[in-house]
Amino acid sequence: MMSREQNDRISRVGPGTPGGRLLRHYWQPVALLDEFDTARVGPRPVKAVRVLGQDFVLFRDEQDRWGLLDRDCPHRGADLAYGRREDGGLRCPFHGWLFDVDGRCLETPAEPEGSRLCDRIRQRAYPVRVMAGAVWAWLGEGEPPAFPALDCFVAPDSHVFAFKGLWDCNWLQSLEVGIDPAHASFLHRFFEDEQPGEQSYGRQFRSASSDSDLPMTKVMREHYRPEIFVEPAPHGLQLTALRRISDTATHVRITNQVFPQAFAIPLSDEMTITQFHVPVDDYSNYWFAFFTSFGAPVDKALMREQRLKMHELPEYRPRAGRDNQYGFDPREQLTQTYTGMGADINVHDQWACESQGPIQDRTREHLGTTDKAIMAYRRMLLKAIETVEQGGMPPACGDAAQAEGLRGPVTMDAIGPGGSVEALREFGRGIDSRRRARASWGARL
Ligand code: FES
Ligand SMILES: [Fe+2]
Repeated sequence: MMSREQNDRISRVGPGTPGGRLLRHYWQPVALLDEFDTARVGPRPVKAVRVLGQDFVLFRDEQDRWGLLDRDCPHRGADLAYGRREDGGLRCPFHGWLFDVDGRCLETPAEPEGSRLCDRIRQRAYPVRVMAGAVWAWLGEGEPPAFPALDCFVAPDSHVFAFKGLWDCNWLQSLEVGIDPAHASFLHRFFEDEQPGEQSYGRQFRSASSDSDLPMTKVMREHYRPEIFVEPAPHGLQLTALRRISDTATHVRITNQVFPQAFAIPLSDEMTITQFHVPVDDYSNYWFAFFTSFGAPVDKALMREQRLKMHELPEYRPRAGRDNQYGFDPREQLTQTYTGMGADINVHDQWACESQGPIQDRTREHLGTTDKAIMAYRRMLLKAIETVEQGGMPPACGDAAQAEGLRGPVTMDAIGPGGSVEALREFGRGIDSRRRARASWGARL
């Protein structure tokens, strides 16, 4: 159980909050490139974005340079997200002041001829990078850190698909689902094993695992008490969850916390997901998922179409939610799924997070043994917040040499032999490194 002060410290993200200061040390995904695809969204690549409780306007100018500026016009505060994209920048519709992607004021056209007012005006602009199908921004002070060499950032564009979704709750509880290996046996339980040819999201919990034709539904359902091991790693934490099926068969799942806001998990034999939880403000967050293939290029059109069926544009709000009880069907809950909310595991996770409240009241929780990764992560988070308060550098953040060391990480879901944790971890890592060796883009760890 935590004190209210501690809970505020780890969950609040606004400017000037201890947690907000920590998160501003890391690059944040702020939009999908899809949202700026003029063929898809029309001819005006200008968009309001809200991140870490701050409002910005993100745009591409006529030379296709990216700009991220504070959203309120420095003249008298009108909304630059309605700006006119012209003359080498974004022009405020109120009195025509013009700003370039660096925040320089280029014109104040209503001022007297020869006015030098422009020279004294500077709108705050933030560094922007395009990586892995998303637009990333750095909202901190000083020089931004280097990008880590995670799989989703080193794989070629053809092998990464990015998507996002809006959840109505604090970012931290959304992240914590990703480092909770026990919940899959309950929240994502299916009472029937997979029908041939079924292709819905989260199939890894239902199809046969690597190297085995054992239905994963059955493994998850019947072996609901995993042994969980948590180790510190350069990127954050590495989790190993073992489900002992027999003396000679163990389900091994290796997942990761990537500090501070992401987790990396296996999706299938060939694909891994690195998922960042980016606070809009204290009460909602976007998950940005980067699906990275070690095998064939990803079929982006198909993946996009499948996921857009479940989401409403322009906000990427899930069609299932509080308003329609997440599709809850009591008959289904009796016979087919543990939740009664359909087969899409994303909806299950969304319900779990949102139902904890806008910010989970951690003064009322009771953690168990299965929550050990969550406990380890919160300790790391509190320590990192303190490091930043004392003027130090938090983990997994720094110069190019350090970023080079933040690789992979290993993710694996497979049926291995019996044996010790170390042997099974080695078994999982072996499969991971073999598929990396086969990958056309030469991923290495
Ligand atoms: S408020 Fe923007 S130009 Fe006046
Ligand atoms: Fe889940």
